[in-house]
Amino acid sequence: MSNIVILGAQWGDEGKGKVIDIFAAKTDFIVRYQGGNNAGHTVVIGDDEFILHLIPSGILHKTKTCVIGNGVVIDPKALLEEIDMLEKKGISVNGRLFISEEAHVIFPYHKTLDELKEQNKKKIGTTKKGIGPCYADKVARSGIRIIDLLDESVLKEKLKANLGEKNAILTKIYSAEGFAFDPLYKEYLDYAKKIKKYVCNTALLLNEAVAKKKRIMFEGAQGTLLDVDHGTYPFVTSSNSTAGGASTGTGVGPTKIDKVIGVVKAYTTRVGEGPFPTEFSKDLMGCIRKKGREFGATTGRPRRCGWFDSVIVKHAIMVNGIDEIVVTKLDVLDDLDRIKICTSYKFEGKGYNNFPASIKALSHCEPVYEELSGWQQDTTRITSYAKLPKNAKVYLKRMQDLLKTKIVLISVGSDRKQTFSV
Ligand code: GDP
Ligand code: IMO
Ligand code: MG
Repeated sequence: MSNIVILGAQWGDEGKGKVIDIFAAKTDFIVRYQGGNNAGHTVVIGDDEFILHLIPSGILHKTKTCVIGNGVVIDPKALLEEIDMLEKKGISVNGRLFISEEAHVIFPYHKTLDELKEQNKKKIGTTKKGIGPCYADKVARSGIRIIDLLDESVLKEKLKANLGEKNAILTKIYSAEGFAFDPLYKEYLDYAKKIKKYVCNTALLLNEAVAKKKRIMFEGAQGTLLDVDHGTYPFVTSSNSTAGGASTGTGVGPTKIDKVIGVVKAYTTRVGEGPFPTEFSKDLMGCIRKKGREFGATTGRPRRCGWFDSVIVKHAIMVNGIDEIVVTKLDVLDDLDRIKICTSYKFEGKGYNNFPASIKALSHCEPVYEELSGWQQDTTRITSYAKLPKNAKVYLKRMQDLLKTKIVLISVGSDRKQTFSV
């Protein structure tokens, strides 16, 4: 049995897409278990760049089976556009993409509500894809699932009930326009026709695969600090991006999962609002953002950048049970003469090694840094750990010691080939 969860150990965009694509070669199934098209996972193969939002990044391996699990929220329009984009690039999903009948469906009113809520001064900085409002409906037990979409009368009944409530909120609370039933019903019946062939009982499919000793890889979206329970709440997404989500979001029990791999960027980034103790000041921000091309793969927003923060990654290792680490984007630090690592926080005169639950406390935590010498050498053409500059090895070794977790793979560029094991 070798079923692995691969997830982000920071605030997302750690390079999961690239890492999943590499590990996909050694697996049979690649499964998304939470989130939706708020994710943007980049895979670069030679001159081709693919950005996957909903479909697992393993789809680029033409013999692999990909599954969108019950924990994912699906915008059918975005899904069909993604399938189209892949088909245009010569990648067919037919016969190897399966969608859970239990996944919840995003409707335009979810997106509008997301956008309207974001007009508030106390915004989260969401992707405005309707993710939060769709998960809110799921938990409130009024959501519409893929299985409902496939039944005309059930869809009619549920959509009518939902529109009654949403239109009242839109018009009375936000003074916005509501949605008419007929065109929306027609639009979603049309999506249903198009996606029907992919829909099945994916929990059954995956458990049968486990019984047949097939290898399954669970692809986390977002990152641990964006998890609704373990992240920087309320500045988080609305799902469990942590390892436990792999079970609830697919119906594959925890005893069937063998390993959890955390993807860690050699520094830290975050998109959207919320505390970020090691955030750079303006000059370094611009320099690293440019070198690391730190612009959102989904929204194009500039990502906030900062030094590597071992406190948040240690928290991620604990709450996910991370066994091994992959370090990405080491090359982005190539030009720096000094590099800082945050080893702990200071708050109200006391030292903290653990990530605080209070967002107020985290906003006032001052990072305690250790400073290391940079290597000031291009690492993008390096193909083995042995050939890394000495100071790059010192930096990685210090990360590994602080995290008490083995680094198994290093990435020094966006291409598949710019990766080597340790
Ligand atoms: P994900 O959401 O975790 O899949 O990450 P994103 O795709 O949103 O962002 C990661 C970005 O970094 C993408 O543009 C990748 O092509 C790029 N990338 C991944 N690994 C490396 C690396 O080792 N070095 C550099 N320079 N870029 C990388
Ligand atoms: P991948 O999978 C980085 C952030 C948003 C916002 C918060 C809530 O590519 O790593 P949402 O639209 O989910 O309600 O927004 O979460 N966010 C991400 N940040 N990478 C992502 O995905 C993200 N998905 C959501 O910026 O702060
Ligand atoms: Mg991303």
